[in-house]
Amino acid sequence: MTAAFPAPAWLVGCGNMAGAMVEGWRGRGVDLSDVTVIRPSGTPVDGLRTFKSYPEGEKPLFVMLGFKPQKLDEVAPELAIHIGRETILVSMLAGVTAKSLRDRFPDAKAIVRIMPNLPVAQVQGVTAIYSADAGQDELVEVRRLMASLGMIVWCETEEELGVIGAVAAAGVAYVARFGEALARSAETLGLRPIQARMIAEQTLIGTGAFAAATGSHMADIARQVASPKGTTERGLAILDADDGLQPLVDRTLDAAMSRGRELAAEAARRD
Ligand SMILES: NC(=O)c1ccc[n+]([C@@H]2O[C@H](COP(=O)([O-])OP(=O)(O)OC[C@H]3O[C@@H](n4cnc5c(N)ncnc54)[C@H](OP(=O)(O)O)[C@@H]3O)[C@@H](O)[C@H]2O)c1
Repeated sequence: MTAAFPAPAWLVGCGNMAGAMVEGWRGRGVDLSDVTVIRPSGTPVDGLRTFKSYPEGEKPLFVMLGFKPQKLDEVAPELAIHIGRETILVSMLAGVTAKSLRDRFPDAKAIVRIMPNLPVAQVQGVTAIYSADAGQDELVEVRRLMASLGMIVWCETEEELGVIGAVAAAGVAYVARFGEALARSAETLGLRPIQARMIAEQTLIGTGAFAAATGSHMADIARQVASPKGTTERGLAILDADDGLQPLVDRTLDAAMSRGRELAAEAARRD
């Protein structure tokens, strides 16, 4: 069954992330005819009505917050007037807790936090979902919409949502950085920049496709490539060293988690 938006639906802010979701929904044939985008620039979003300010009339039944967490207090007072008792409020704001949202949107029927990642545009996303107060009907509606963009993960706690944000949402940037580093090293070893970039990117894409098609774990893929005493094994020894990739990734995710806690504290201070 194709997902549908409770109508009318508003997307408040539609930049990189919400835009990627729109692309994914469009790709899945989700009906976007009752969806309105509100963004200060008024930059049109293909196929959707786009306004610079909130439209008058019926209160929206579904509102998705797609702006930066730091904008919350600029947006909330005016938006709260339009949030009725039937409105499902979905927030992708990293670090901003359900309590901080409930304080600013007391009338909302349900507050749902999501943490999507950019590959939702290709329906290959990971979207974590958390809600403390959504009823069965609201959960079904949100679930259908998010599940049409790839994998969904229900979170028992907001901490879990934060971890998945660090792994899957921010993780896209970390994986992309690895691809960039691979390309830079390839250049250092003598490949032309464009050649280095294309080869590094295709290696990342191909590894993902191989894992998806074969169901192999990443550790098994590495084992399949590395023959004993061979070239790959010598390289893996660097990544696997005590001061190699794992502690670096641990520190990277710790830093992202810590920033999430800071954003939550900033929003809570203003509650
Ligand atoms: N990027 C990711 O991979 C990712 C992943 C998970 C979660 N998130 C979350 O997604 C949110 C947006 O991130 P992003 O990367 O998409 O940012 P972005 O590309 O900078 O987009 C921000 C959007 O917010 C709009 N905006 C700014 N001020 C506004 C206001 N006063 N009222 C309404 N809309 C306003 C902007 O409108 P204009 O375009 O008109 O300026 C723009 O459409 C953040 O809260 C972030 O935590 C992002």
